[in-house]
Amino acid sequence: MPDAYHIPAMLKETIEGLNIKPGGVYVDVTFGGGGHSRAILEKLASPYPSPEGKGEKGMLFSFDQDIEAYENAQAQMANGKWQMANDSWTFVHSNFRYLRNWMDYYDVPEIDGILADLGVSFHHFDCPERGFSFRFSAPLDMRMNQTSKRTAADIVNSYSEEELAQLFYLYGELKNGRQIARAICKARTDKRIERTEDLVKIAFPHPLPERRGDEIEVPTNAKKDLARLFQALRIEVNDEMGALREMLLAARDLLKPGGRIAILTYHSLEDRLVKNFLRSGNLEGTIEKDFYGNNLSPFTLIEKGREASAEEIERNPRARSAKLRVAEKK
Ligand SMILES: C[S@@+](CC[C@H](N)C(=O)[O-])C[C@H]1O[C@@H](n2cnc3c(N)ncnc32)[C@H](O)[C@@H]1O
Repeated sequence: MPDAYHIPAMLKETIEGLNIKPGGVYVDVTFGGGGHSRAILEKLASPYPSPEGKGEKGMLFSFDQDIEAYENAQAQMANGKWQMANDSWTFVHSNFRYLRNWMDYYDVPEIDGILADLGVSFHHFDCPERGFSFRFSAPLDMRMNQTSKRTAADIVNSYSEEELAQLFYLYGELKNGRQIARAICKARTDKRIERTEDLVKIAFPHPLPERRGDEIEVPTNAKKDLARLFQALRIEVNDEMGALREMLLAARDLLKPGGRIAILTYHSLEDRLVKNFLRSGNLEGTIEKDFYGNNLSPFTLIEKGREASAEEIERNPRARSAKLRVAEKK
């Protein structure tokens, strides 16, 4: 396992955006390396609670569909690096699309805040065997939840040329998506496409430099397109857009008036969905107005797509695509 499970993006800005009340109930639907969750827990356990939180016990539910996120947290607690107040913290090993069901299960009718730091963690990219990165030779897997059935190899070997072309266009914004889809369909008539390097060679049909162990040397001019291709497949394997839609609706209904939702997005498709949802309160992004022309959205916008500072990007280059959106329930 690589050393750093994840480095959270815009940690301070996100926690400020949530405006945490020490006695409140919070949900972090994307636990990952636990950076955001631990910062929330610190606020819940503040020795100087606000008057409204005084004497009350705050609660944090952290979701992740990848059991390795929980295993990492357990390892950090066992070696004394982390102290997570167990009476305030509950880990939920589940897809966040089931947020509403889990809150029912825990008898939590409403929440004070919710955080979603979307997509994959550094751990996913840096673990060769998970198949998320074109940098390593590995099975074409890309499942965040390793118990789910469908892998990237299943998609690449079963979707029609049209379905693949649409997928690469929609989720990867790839200009040469159709060409790649055609090349995939041609290549798989010879043999099933099973590994990352097979896909790299099909999408980038030029001689690749000699391999160094498990690493695939990819020329700089191919990196951008390969990143988009792998992103598109990952979004499809994990049904990221479907899960996000279901979670947004549940979050809207669960939030108390005055409660906050903070979302970090990493690509334009998810960012557009979140932006329109927070502006309108619905998935279609239709802004409804009353007789006087006032916006009837259930949210007031607090952060409208804030980006990481140059200093943070210098320290953590993977924060450069992050956008923070925060809204408050009216
Ligand atoms: C960007 S990382 C979150 C990092 C985290 N904020 C931190 O401070 O370390 C996203 C995490 O969310 C998880 N995840 C993504 N989509 C999910 C979903 N639909 N349901 C549950 N977990 C999900 C991934 O497995 C990954 O661990």
